[in-house]
Formats: sequence, C-alpha cells, structure tokens
Amino acid sequence: MSDNKLFMPFGVEYDLIKGIMKNPDKHLIRKASSMKGHYEDAAALDKIIAAGDPLHYEVFEKNIPEENGHLQFCISTTQPGLVGDECFMTKGHYHRIPETAEIYLCLTGRGYMLMKTKEGDSVAEEMFPGRMVYVPPYWAHRTVNTGDTPLTSFCVYPGNAGHNYGDIEVEGFPKRVYKRNGKIEISAWKRKS
Ligand code: F6R
Ligand code: ZN
Repeated sequence: MSDNKLFMPFGVEYDLIKGIMKNPDKHLIRKASSMKGHYEDAAALDKIIAAGDPLHYEVFEKNIPEENGHLQFCISTTQPGLVGDECFMTKGHYHRIPETAEIYLCLTGRGYMLMKTKEGDSVAEEMFPGRMVYVPPYWAHRTVNTGDTPLTSFCVYPGNAGHNYGDIEVEGFPKRVYKRNGKIEISAWKRKS
C-alpha cells in the first residue's frame, strides 16, 4: 500500500497465566512516591518511600494512535501491599473523553475495581481471574489489590479516551479498601477538613 496513513494489523503474544504482554512498546512504572495524596495515612506512605520506594503498579502498552476508531489495550499490574492498613491501588482516573467505557479482564490476583461518578454513585466490583469488570462511560475507576500476589488485568478502551487524573485527585474515591487482621474491609472515606 502506498497510503502511509494506513495502520497495519499486528498481533501480540501474552502469557495469560502470568499476566504478561510480550514485547510492549511502552512500560509505565509508578512507585510509592508517585502516590502522595492518595492514601489516608500519609505518614505510612512516607515511611514506605523512605524504606526504598517500592514498585506500586505498572502498565504495559503497544503504540496505538489516540484516535476515535482505534482501541487502546494494555496489561495493568498492581503489586500487593499495604500503606498503613490500606491496600495498594492505582491513582485512578476519569477518561479525558468521559463518555468512553473500558473493559478490565482480570488475569491474576485478587482485588476490587472502585468506581464513582460525579453525581456521587459509588461501586466496588470484585476482581479475580476470569472475571471481567465493565467500566461504563462517566465512571472514574481505580484498581485495588487485596491479595498477596500481583493483580493483573487486560484492559481495552477507545483510542481517544485519554486520562483525566485531575478531577479525581480533587474529589477522591468515596470508598477505601483496607486489610485488617487479615480481613478485607471496604468503608466510606471521610475527607479530613
Ligand atoms: C486506561 C486504564 C488503565 C490504567 C492503569 C493505571 O484507561 O484505565 O490502563 O491507566 O490501570 O491506572 P491509572 O491510570 O489510574 O494510574
Ligand atoms: Zn481507564
């Protein structure tokens, strides 16, 4: 083809047992230090950062144009761990184009997808291998690892969806997920005034 704009088909190999995408083009790494302001116990997060700033989560992607009609896809891997008694999680975001949805197919580990709308709706959906969570348009979303092994999902979303981190940083998620005495607790978060 002489048309340089034509995007060529391609294939990607996965290890679905381990939750690994082979030969990703992009590898995003978020350490504990990039999670400031997201956990209830800021002092506990500072301690973890001072003790070595461990890996929190990673995203593995291929280069796909950020355009309507394309589909972005990735492997998202969140490490197990606690900040105080709150489970490790992703920052979470709305999509920049809010009327875009997303599918998370869980491959490894155990946890929750926390979701919220600007109208105040709030839902926690369980994640475990073989379970898919559908994030509808207009729902901010964050993954939380409640297990002892990495929580890994294959995600697919519209090419032009983008990320809006700013709004949810201001709003916060109404639900938080804790592990206390080995038990998972999901409770409402009261913002400190
Ligand atoms: C894309 C998406 C995931 C997340 C990834 C990291 O729309 O939802 O690929 O980007 O799980 O989480 P964030 O982006 O919230 O840091
Ligand atoms: Zn998303």
